Amino acid sequence: MKIKFLVLTFVAALFAVSLQAEDYVLSTENTSLVVSVTKGGKPVYQYYGPKISDADVNGLFASRVNFSGDAYPAFGLNSSGEKAIAVEMPDGSMSLDLETTAMERTTDKNGQLLVITMKDKVYPFVVKQYFKAYNQSDIISTWTEITNEGKKDVKLLQFSSACVPLHRGNNYASHVHGSWGCESYLAEDPIANGQTVLADKEGLRNAWSNNPSVMITMNGQPQENEGEVFGCNLLWSGNYKIKIVAENNSLQVIAGINEETSTYSLSAKETFKTPELAMAYSTEGKGGISRAFHRWARQYALMHGDKVRDILLNSWEGVYMNVNQDVMDQMMGDIAKLGGELFVMDDGWFGDKYPRNDDHTSLGDWMVNKTKLPQGIDGLTASAKKYGIKFGIWIEPEMANTKSELFDNHPEWILQQKNRPIIQGRGGTQVVLDLTNPKVQDYVFSITDKLLTQHPDIAYIKWDCNAPIMNYGSTYLPASKQSEIYIRYHMGLRKVLERIRAKYPNVVLQACASGGGRINYGVLPYFDEFWTSDDTDAYQRLFIQWGDSQFYPAIGMAAHVSASPNHQTGRQVPLKFRFDVAMTGRLGMELQPKSMSDEEREFATRAITSYKEIRPIVQLGDLYRLVSPYDHLPISSLMYATQDRSRAAFFAYRLDYLYNQQVPLVRLTGVDENRNYLIKDLTPQQAGKPCAFDGKVVSGKILKYVGLEVGSVLERPMTSMALELIAQ
Ligand code: DGJ
Repeated sequence: MKIKFLVLTFVAALFAVSLQAEDYVLSTENTSLVVSVTKGGKPVYQYYGPKISDADVNGLFASRVNFSGDAYPAFGLNSSGEKAIAVEMPDGSMSLDLETTAMERTTDKNGQLLVITMKDKVYPFVVKQYFKAYNQSDIISTWTEITNEGKKDVKLLQFSSACVPLHRGNNYASHVHGSWGCESYLAEDPIANGQTVLADKEGLRNAWSNNPSVMITMNGQPQENEGEVFGCNLLWSGNYKIKIVAENNSLQVIAGINEETSTYSLSAKETFKTPELAMAYSTEGKGGISRAFHRWARQYALMHGDKVRDILLNSWEGVYMNVNQDVMDQMMGDIAKLGGELFVMDDGWFGDKYPRNDDHTSLGDWMVNKTKLPQGIDGLTASAKKYGIKFGIWIEPEMANTKSELFDNHPEWILQQKNRPIIQGRGGTQVVLDLTNPKVQDYVFSITDKLLTQHPDIAYIKWDCNAPIMNYGSTYLPASKQSEIYIRYHMGLRKVLERIRAKYPNVVLQACASGGGRINYGVLPYFDEFWTSDDTDAYQRLFIQWGDSQFYPAIGMAAHVSASPNHQTGRQVPLKFRFDVAMTGRLGMELQPKSMSDEEREFATRAITSYKEIRPIVQLGDLYRLVSPYDHLPISSLMYATQDRSRAAFFAYRLDYLYNQQVPLVRLTGVDENRNYLIKDLTPQQAGKPCAFDGKVVSGKILKYVGLEVGSVLERPMTSMALELIAQ
């Protein structure tokens, strides 16, 4: 699809080089992006929104509203306003003047691409801008490749992935932010004139304080099912910056690696690839953006996104570091009896000279602690086999403790500032390995490699990361490259993960970073799931999981049933409520099953059986958020539906309880209004005593436009329901 026509007025106003432009339309299933390209000029965004045809494109110019913008503005000439790229040439010049020299439409294995080549008019410096429409999805992404074709280094001072113009109206930004144990809280604010900056400078775990993603409404407060919304997510695991620049009549989103304290020296002939910015545009409110990202993630951005996940027991909150063969064996036997499929031994199993009994020692010494585990890992995999389940293990391979054999042998392998004392993190001794160093990359790869070659029965690895970059300095990088550590660390990490995936494509990997610090699409293409939060309180998880669901699918969201009172908040939460919350993600358990009563075990067995029934709906279906926990109503509710809407799983929770309090009806927006649905209670409190909705057949129209009166069932504080809907 390629249309040529004359663009007289506005292009001339932007860059008076040529009057003839070619317009390129890149479309997904429901959206289109139009970029104008003029040889000798600069690429210009013309449109991003609901799908349009070539004929519609002509009308764009007839009906022109103020939406067009330089697609990759460079600092140097005409230099007012915000830019996407700024450089310092070897002669000190800070000017860059890019003109388009070539344009190509091409495809790769999962999308159609538009590639625009731009060259500086004076210096040997090239930028290739990419736009990619992913097949069978509603995601378009964009990034650049920046090449120094000269003989001397060029300093990259800013190197954003994209600068996207949007319509200025009554815009709101909706994004998630938080901290340890309180990740992914949803915040929705009007976009004021000036700049709104979402950024991270933590070094390793970029999703804690502000997730590298944002939704922006085109007109009015964010709605779940209505209204036009733009959403974007930066596919990067390191420091990032998303800047929303609002002026009277214009709105821009500039997103990329955070360039602050990260000047990058581009050597002769070197190419720097900026991370992809994945974008979606919805006319169905925020829900449309989430569903577009979830579908795309399952297909392209999350490992094994089409395969349902095992139900597991993780040992952490059950025994913390007190692991040993007997207790692991007992936990494996118990989870197998409850219907679980996998057991994961968490922290505390390693360290020889320095045994890992608390968090002061041993990171780096990935050999079994023989006192705790005399039969080694083989003893554990044998137990798992005995009970007919799989076995998984915890590691934190990017780290060391200063009390470890690794540190004794290789003190130069940690990030550090020469001539300054080392700042030590968790346990007073934790430090970060220098992944900019290829030898350290080899070592980090070898940790997983050894475990998986020596113990091929290991089916799952929880990959943790519990420190920021505290000692900014590398003994490996030369002085001229010290400012690249924040970037090169993540390039090094990616290399390691690529090697692991090339050799072990089937192992299940969990991205954990002190909870939800690594919920980002920079790492998720290598991981099957993320640990959502170290806060396992089901009540608070409703808020956290709601936040994560904005961009990340349920199949990747590890949600565990833990003990009550909860270890983080002290809250008492009924087991049914805990299950009904964890069943909306990848269900797991994280407690000592030995401490459960017989009644609790009986309930857990039934809930696990029910989860298996709805697992494909939750993990592979479409999410419809129905009543937000952030709306301060007495309930919260959500549902998943298969793509053909023949089956759905519905969940509702009583958050607040006052006598005779008004409770809204819940409209099930995800059902097919032309079908009837049989309702089944998935988790009755007592076997054989389902809730009042069980066994009823209700039409899709009634479910969608009238709704379910969940308040009549959730008549006590901390009550909940999980229903399956089966189209008749
Ligand atoms: C932090 C993780 O988030 C926890 O789940 C647990 O694995 C601990 N680390 C172990 O040290």
